[in-house]
Amino acid sequence: MAPKVFLTGTTGYIGGDSLYTISQAHPDWELSALVRSKEKAEQLTSKYPKVRVVLGDLDSADIIEEEVKKADIVYHFADCDHVAAANAIAKGVSHHTKENPVWLIHTSGTGVLTWEDQRAKTFGIERPKEYNDWDGVGEVTSLPDDAFHRDVDKIILAAGEASPESVKTAIVCPPCIYGPGRGPGNTRSIQAYTLSASVLKTKKGILVGQGKNVWHQVHIQDLSNIYLALGEAAAAGGGNATWGKEGYYFAENGPFVWGDVQRAVAKAAFEKKLIPSPEVEALSDEEVAKILPFGLYAWGTNSRCHAIRGRKLLGWNPTKPGLLELIPDIVEVEAKVLGLI
Ligand SMILES: NC(=O)c1ccc[n+]([C@@H]2O[C@H](COP(=O)([O-])OP(=O)(O)OC[C@H]3O[C@@H](n4cnc5c(N)ncnc54)[C@H](OP(=O)(O)O)[C@@H]3O)[C@@H](O)[C@H]2O)c1
Repeated sequence: MAPKVFLTGTTGYIGGDSLYTISQAHPDWELSALVRSKEKAEQLTSKYPKVRVVLGDLDSADIIEEEVKKADIVYHFADCDHVAAANAIAKGVSHHTKENPVWLIHTSGTGVLTWEDQRAKTFGIERPKEYNDWDGVGEVTSLPDDAFHRDVDKIILAAGEASPESVKTAIVCPPCIYGPGRGPGNTRSIQAYTLSASVLKTKKGILVGQGKNVWHQVHIQDLSNIYLALGEAAAAGGGNATWGKEGYYFAENGPFVWGDVQRAVAKAAFEKKLIPSPEVEALSDEEVAKILPFGLYAWGTNSRCHAIRGRKLLGWNPTKPGLLELIPDIVEVEAKVLGLI
């Protein structure tokens, strides 16, 4: 029997591309989606008429609880920091039983690994610490409470640990995502996109401090394949995937240095005749924060991790072009949004 799948965030970047991938692979799955307005519902159903719309937002606790109670598989894409929604989901999964289990596939983010820079307020320097989701998974699921996204990660992990026979959790933790989304709503990501927009608006290339900090990357269309693989494992009664305490999946495809991205954005913008020079100017923390307060975190921290679990257990094999290769496209997308071309 086709599984009943409840999704949040399908008009967004991650959820939209995953919806595309999941519905292409499994047109028979019974999908329902939380959507927060009639306009968004139309946006969704014009492309996906078979999806059942659930009107509500992430604070609609009763609605979320009820939908999660009815579902076999839940994909939570909408917001990895929304505590009330996570609590409502945790309440919903608690209705499931060993005979009627639920698979909960949650989205976190490797911002959770930036806690050392956040605490020390260091931006643009390189930190050597690397995490992994295989023999290092225990460290990842016990990061300090002040780490980004950690409060919601804990709620999801606790829901699985409380009832391991009826509630099977997996946390997908993407790093810096890029590339064109294929969903019905937002198709642009955040970090490299806001950087490009900032360079285009201020008309100069920027370097956050020394620009030596490292993150990892994943193309959105590769990322969606790990959500698909987890959904398929769930539909098969668990499959080869790990669920519960160790069901944590980084979804990365290699590291990059933020200074290289910052230089590539300036070069691409200059070559498109959108800024007068390809040079980057090293900015102080205060100057970066003035351009975009969230820029210090987004472009100045370290977040280093290795995705071993998805590759080993799910055969996840990312193949799309890297972030640096796609910077000219990203600059172009942002220039169009700003009406510059
Ligand atoms: N993009 C990245 O590089 C990245 C990497 C790692 C983790 N993440 C995290 O993953 C999550 C999703 O990211 P994204 O890039 O897909 O964001 P996005 O494009 O802004 O999408 C967010 C989705 O969630 C929905 N949503 C947000 N708040 C809602 C609310 N209160 N009620 C109902 N629906 C709500 C949005 O609906 P509307 O269409 O109505 O706005 C949209 O469908 C975020 O928490 C983000 O921090 C992102």
